[in-house]
Amino acid sequence: MRVTPDQIIAMKQRGERIPMLTAYDYAMAAILDAAGIPMLLVGDSLGMVMLGYETTLPVTLDDIIHHTRAVVRGAKRALIVADMPFMSFQISREIALQSAGRLMKEGGAQAVKLEGGRRVAESIHAIVEAGIPVMGHLGMTPQSVNVFGGFKVQGRTEAAARAMIEDALALEQAGVFAIVLELVPTPLAALITQRISVPTIGIGAGPYCDGEVQVIHDLLGLFPDFTPRHTRRFAEVGKEIQDAVQSYIAEVRARTFPTEKQGSTMDMAIIERLRQEFF
Ligand code: KIV
Repeated sequence: MRVTPDQIIAMKQRGERIPMLTAYDYAMAAILDAAGIPMLLVGDSLGMVMLGYETTLPVTLDDIIHHTRAVVRGAKRALIVADMPFMSFQISREIALQSAGRLMKEGGAQAVKLEGGRRVAESIHAIVEAGIPVMGHLGMTPQSVNVFGGFKVQGRTEAAARAMIEDALALEQAGVFAIVLELVPTPLAALITQRISVPTIGIGAGPYCDGEVQVIHDLLGLFPDFTPRHTRRFAEVGKEIQDAVQSYIAEVRARTFPTEKQGSTMDMAIIERLRQEFF
């Protein structure tokens, strides 16, 4: 049985921390699921770490659907949340509802996530009313990187902190089952976590959120361009891959791989007849 949004809320009520990771493909989703991760996000961060864009803005709804399908096939137990990409929900409530519906019907997700506060609360309410669980996303919302002027901490001034609390309350009221807090000062994230009934999932928001989400490539050392300050490398898989590939190149060049063990046999009389015919 898959984890459900209600079970995620119950984890907050029990004071149980909620780990979440991104996943974008079948094999990684299967590995993360086997490790016991309760919730996976098919984030629009895939635009940067999988597709090599500088921001998440070029990611399309079709991109997210394509990757969500693969993740759903790979992970049998985790709750799969599909990200709503730039311009798939901002234009109107109807377009938001339509996009969320496609992520569920075509992607096979069990929930969607979208960025923004009061501005998108009406759309979130409509999506929830249609039977689709929604995760909110406040703080440094990467789709607004051009407004923020970079990937910077949000909510440091009193006005900005107040606005974020009001946004969180509006999202709770609209029916979200959890809210991502990205690049939010630790004390503000703690305050919001205490104030709302649904779980907060931090990323660069300190240790007092109900859960934590990280981009899997950052955690495993798989993204070569940069390592965000808010992450920690739990492994150096990129380096392991590079070493393994260098060994492969060397062995192919030295003719020590493949060997007879990687081949197969056949009746040598056939080969002999063919040799006489073709040479
Ligand atoms: O797209 C993403 O991976 C995200 C997380 C960083 C929360 O939105």
